[in-house]
Amino acid sequence: MQGEIDLSLQSAFDLELSTVDATLLQRLRQLVIQQLKAATQSHRHPWHVAVVATCQGAEPRVRNVVLRSVGDPPLMLRFHTDLRSQKTEQIAENPNLEWLFYEHKTRIQIRLRSQARIVTQGSQWQAAWEATSLPSRRCYLGPWAPGTACEEPNVNLPSGMEHRNPSQEESHAGMQNFAIVNCQIDRMEWLYLRHDGHLRCAFERDTQDLWNASWLAP
Ligand SMILES: Cc1cc2nc3c(=O)[nH]c(=O)nc-3n(C[C@H](O)[C@H](O)[C@H](O)COP(=O)(O)O)c2cc1C
Repeated sequence: MQGEIDLSLQSAFDLELSTVDATLLQRLRQLVIQQLKAATQSHRHPWHVAVVATCQGAEPRVRNVVLRSVGDPPLMLRFHTDLRSQKTEQIAENPNLEWLFYEHKTRIQIRLRSQARIVTQGSQWQAAWEATSLPSRRCYLGPWAPGTACEEPNVNLPSGMEHRNPSQEESHAGMQNFAIVNCQIDRMEWLYLRHDGHLRCAFERDTQDLWNASWLAP
């Protein structure tokens, strides 16, 4: 199954590249967005897990997150996080957040620049929490803020919950730690490593939410 997805992802881009005309750049952009949407639906998709970078003052910080949703227009990517994690403080200080998608078999790298916003109330947040599975909710029940120093190995779960999921009722306590992070994308970059020459292009969103596309030297 993994192989099939990798193959279809790569061959979908190869198919677009087989017709070089004035629409190629916008077709590539649409395919990137289509595949990002597909990645939210399957944990087997090569882009289901991405790296997101934030800034801690002048220093970069990176970590993996699960791509939860892709909205349009304009393009918005979302991940879920623990409100107590260090990244939320970093985003509140500086909303510049970059996404990175890469999978070695596909050899396509996507970089997305965004403005991130932490959401902890309202209908989007509520709907996201309600759609969250019990195993996922368990992650928000930790007594300690993620990153807290511990004297010994510590799974940060309520005692007795190491080997089971919370009940629906127990899971509600996680709501206070649950945050969604909505990232408004303003620039996308695509790089495809190929034996017969790499290709790279970028898409910048203008004030009318139109994407200006250009080829770049790889
Ligand atoms: C495969 C994978 C998926 C992850 N998904 C998420 C996620 O969706 N949200 C999240 O906050 N952390 C996720 N994590 C944990 C983060 O990478 C990170 O360790 C944690 O959020 C603390 O980051 P921070 O200290 O920069 O806030 C994931 C880790 C891995 C390895």
